[in-house]
Amino acid sequence: MSTLVTGGAGYIGSHVVRLLQERGERVVVVDDLSSGYAERIGDAALVQVDISKDEALRILTETMIDYDVDAVIHFAAQKQVGVSVQRPSLYYRQNVGGMANLLRAMYDSGVRDIVFSSSAAVYGQPTVDLVPEDAPTEPINPYGQTKLIGEQMLADCTRAWNLNYIALRYFNAAGAGWNDLADTYTLNLIPIALEVLAQGGEPVVFGDDYPTPDGTCVRDYVHVLDLAKAHLVALDALRDKSVVNRAFNVGTGRGSSVFEVLDALREASDWDFGQEIGPRREGDPATLVADCSSIELALGWKAELGLPQIVESAWTARQAGASPITVLKD
Ligand code: WQD
Repeated sequence: MSTLVTGGAGYIGSHVVRLLQERGERVVVVDDLSSGYAERIGDAALVQVDISKDEALRILTETMIDYDVDAVIHFAAQKQVGVSVQRPSLYYRQNVGGMANLLRAMYDSGVRDIVFSSSAAVYGQPTVDLVPEDAPTEPINPYGQTKLIGEQMLADCTRAWNLNYIALRYFNAAGAGWNDLADTYTLNLIPIALEVLAQGGEPVVFGDDYPTPDGTCVRDYVHVLDLAKAHLVALDALRDKSVVNRAFNVGTGRGSSVFEVLDALREASDWDFGQEIGPRREGDPATLVADCSSIELALGWKAELGLPQIVESAWTARQAGASPITVLKD
């Protein structure tokens, strides 16, 4: 028996792979290494393939049979919101097409359990500050749309052939569980700030005139290790059929502003760096915080780490220099 992790060489996927290995599970990773690193997956088997390609259906099916796979955790996807707006067909091909291949391979090989990496992006611009799972799903970009379609595909397969799924809607994943698994892409606030500081610059705050307590945007930052643990709990629930066919928010239920994140970074680094106030970034909701009561009630999962640990772990990993830095613009 083994667990197949698509995108297992990526930032969040590699944390899940390591936790699975720590508890003695056999893991097979499917990853095209376009943004992941083979060094991250330890002794897990690696099948290098882009799941959206035609040959992937055969390779995925063979992998599931050869490795006696009983469950899938599906991360492999494109995740840059800005690029998804410019190149929607790429996002539909990769995220929706790739998932169609994966689900077909599961059908063909008799694998019925899947944990899906979804996103708070399915909510678009919610009108409530604490977003529950039954809030309207109205994505405002193709990235969020592909995640919502992914969830709909799962529900359709459940009806058609008894697939069991749990979709996890991540809020703002950040931090590092291990130094060598840190987020290496400068696409989100904390990695961007770390890179700007390393280059001798000052982080730029995208707007300080929002209707929030300090005027900067509020987000729900969840430690990647907590997030990774949510996948194991979801996997266990699928395996024993205690909870199936649900979507859960994964966050902390607590919001932090951009100013608070930068202050936490000053604390962690013991460095009183400056900051610039820039214009608002298009499409940013003022506040986006998860109502996490459902996942706690259903799966007994609750975030254990807060903003100080998130920022401290990201800072420490960066100082350790254990991960290559890839500067990308969204
Ligand atoms: C956080 C806050 C920025 C950079 C995105 C995706 C979302 C999900 C997580 C995948 C915002 C502000 C940022 C900077 C800043 N991705 N900021 N200066 O936009 O909340 O969420 O990542 O599932 O779908 O949209 O995350 O890290 O880009 O921004 O002031 O240099 O930091 O305006 O308020 P975001 P982020």
